[in-house]
Amino acid sequence: MKGIILHGGAGTRLRPLTFSGPKQLIPVANKPISQYVLEDLKSIGVVDVAIVLGETFPELVMQHYGDGSRFGVRITYVNQGKPLGIAHAVYLCKDFVQDDGFIVYLGDNLLQNGVKNYFEKFLINDYDCMVLLKEVEDPSRFGVAEFDDKGNLVRLVEKPRVPRSRFALVGVYFFKPIVFEVIKGLKPSWRGELEITDAIQTMLEKGFRVGYSIVDGWWLDTGKKDDILYANSLILDEYGVRSIRGELVESKVDGRVSIGEGSKIVNSTVRGPAIIGNNCVIQNSFIGPYTSIGDNVKVLKSSVEYSIVLEGACVESIDRLEESLVGRNAKVIRNTARNSVRLHVGDYSEIEL
Ligand code: TTP
Repeated sequence: MKGIILHGGAGTRLRPLTFSGPKQLIPVANKPISQYVLEDLKSIGVVDVAIVLGETFPELVMQHYGDGSRFGVRITYVNQGKPLGIAHAVYLCKDFVQDDGFIVYLGDNLLQNGVKNYFEKFLINDYDCMVLLKEVEDPSRFGVAEFDDKGNLVRLVEKPRVPRSRFALVGVYFFKPIVFEVIKGLKPSWRGELEITDAIQTMLEKGFRVGYSIVDGWWLDTGKKDDILYANSLILDEYGVRSIRGELVESKVDGRVSIGEGSKIVNSTVRGPAIIGNNCVIQNSFIGPYTSIGDNVKVLKSSVEYSIVLEGACVESIDRLEESLVGRNAKVIRNTARNSVRLHVGDYSEIEL
């Protein structure tokens, strides 16, 4: 089996962060989202992995993953450029896949329990394709599965206005190489993309063996800021550990908190689950649960909770910063001497005062 990680797409919903990097590299609990995906593939023994690159700083992806040896895998890069659809991205991997079965994993999807059980089901049943489904509140945001009376999968509809079930298509797909023949015959959809749902729908209509599994545990599609914050809280809950390598000065650290090397916590309280990277300064502050703080961050005279603060940022004199995603090297500072708000804000930023 081979693995394909989709690392392209425009990431418009995550602007301005996607002006300086692909969304799949945004860290959750101080680790890029797509690295969880790669590690999941590695954990089931899939070590030949193609990463499909888009137009948004593909060089940062190559810089992070290199040839894969650091992660115990072999990586092949495939350039997609413009996001012409998931099926388009998959088709570009034809030469990489050759005669093997393969897993396609969207680089911004996270599964609590990984793909191990589904991977085994795909192999045992010898399916031509297997999809993963999850019951969700608002299926119309996703591809939606429809079943017959016997529970057989009969149809997949992309973002239907009136969904016929609550089962959404998760961003992990298992295929045999026969799918390339099917994709070759597809026409772009109204949005100009080669849709993977159309490819699977065609396989159903042509009588190929298409199976499905219902995902147990949480599944997250981290396309928007709130999804990323939620993913951060779930990952910290699940994997947060207590590990204090930095220095504590007159400070209190409660619960599962990880503090990196060279970081200094002065006259502050940190309550887990939380993670603080290397070389940070946290002074006269409170860091609350579900917070991830990247390397070289300063938090001074502030309280931060349920938030992600990325590398090099500075938060100063902010009473309660909550549910926030602060980008690299950003400065969020309250100037107590002034009565006005002074901003220097990037395109598509959101500020709630
Ligand atoms: P989406 O989240 O649907 O698309 P997007 O990245 O363009 O986001 P937005 O709507 O905010 O602009 O894509 C799902 C995943 O598939 C994501 O990880 C990006 C990846 N992808 C590709 O790699 N190539 C493509 O052509 C498309 C459409 C998506």
